[in-house]
Amino acid sequence: MKILVIGSGGREHAIAWKIAQNSKVEKVYCAPGNGGTAVEDKCENVNLKSNEELAKFAKDNGIYLTVVGPEVPLTEGIVDLFKSQGLKVFGPSKEAAKLEGSKAFSKEFMKKYGVKTAEYEVFENEDEALKYLKTCAYPIVIKADGLAAGKGVVICEEYKMAEETIKDFMVNDIFKGSGKKVVIEEFLEGPEASILSITDGETIIPFISAKDHKQIYDGGKGPNTGGMGAIAPNPYCNEEVLKAFEKEVIEPTLKGIKEEKFDYTGIIFFGIMITKKGPYLLEYNVRLGDPETQAVLPIMESDLLELIEAALDKKLSEFDVKWYNGASCCVAAVSKGYPGKYEVGFEIKGTDKAKRVFVAGAQYEDNKLKTSGGRVLCTQSLGSTLDEAIDAAYDDLNKIEFEGIYYRHDIGRVK
Ligand code: AMP
Ligand code: GLY
Repeated sequence: MKILVIGSGGREHAIAWKIAQNSKVEKVYCAPGNGGTAVEDKCENVNLKSNEELAKFAKDNGIYLTVVGPEVPLTEGIVDLFKSQGLKVFGPSKEAAKLEGSKAFSKEFMKKYGVKTAEYEVFENEDEALKYLKTCAYPIVIKADGLAAGKGVVICEEYKMAEETIKDFMVNDIFKGSGKKVVIEEFLEGPEASILSITDGETIIPFISAKDHKQIYDGGKGPNTGGMGAIAPNPYCNEEVLKAFEKEVIEPTLKGIKEEKFDYTGIIFFGIMITKKGPYLLEYNVRLGDPETQAVLPIMESDLLELIEAALDKKLSEFDVKWYNGASCCVAAVSKGYPGKYEVGFEIKGTDKAKRVFVAGAQYEDNKLKTSGGRVLCTQSLGSTLDEAIDAAYDDLNKIEFEGIYYRHDIGRVK
């Protein structure tokens, strides 16, 4: 069996690594992949970019199944394209991918089906948004409607900041169209959790809960990044929280997917906030989280390809996903300066001494692994306890060197 994994991050390295463990899989092509998938067992990188090129490759090379990693091709409709050519693909249709691609669309969906979420209003006109913002209690949350690479949410402490944000989003158009429409939302407080889940449109199976650490500095300080590390399970997701989440978020979401007749066989990722009034849904993503995937897939004992096939056969209700009865932690090493400006091209040493490394921004050049991005790689470990998993991930990270290496020291140990 040949599999094609689309994407180039640490998430896609973890997906390819996990799928390659199935004995029926002879090859996992990664498009475009990275310096990790270049040398991973059974994996090979292919330098393809456009959705049309990818479909042609799948057809010409007898690809059994394509798994789409990132949100952009999903919102562009890559799944519809592959299906129209008779190709087997795992991911939501373009229409269903709007649950991530448009915040106004997803909030409307949540409201329509009674998913527990923050109160909100949608605006397409700057003056009306500002008029509304004069009446609000602060802090208030302003969100760009479209995709903004994780930068489209601003928590405004007072009116002046809200006014500036509206100007940036709607007038200066800093997200090139994505912020022309905004969602203005009630501010919620509490620890966050990432619940990656799989759906076949009839059943949603939540994976083990996870926790991402978004800020660059220890103690959760500084600007947001793509994610500095993750743990699973999330210590805040106790049984009570998970029960409320099932009833107030998963059940109405599934009802909505069915009633809207979404063609949805793929990942649905719930970003939740655990408030004093229970879990609220902040957002849907229609793909796996990064870096949550690098912590979650290694702790999954079930075979990922079999699970995906069960979803494609609409037999998820019969699938019992098994998890290792311990914990998992991944910690990211990033380039100096990230998430701002950074330099690349530094040689990375010591990855051979670490047990598990998932590569993100690194490539081979003259047979040497060199940094090529902000988030360079992460080490990952399992442990019978969370502390054990964290210590082991850090032990491995300490063996890795490159010029300007930076990482947080408190992944899994702070709120
Ligand atoms: P989102 O893309 O909607 O998940 O938002 C990104 C981040 O912004 C979340 O992970 C939260 O930390 C924060 N956030 C989003 N919505 C709210 C809200 N209503 N109240 C407080 N923080 C929020
Ligand atoms: N780690 C959060 C995300 O993937 O959106």
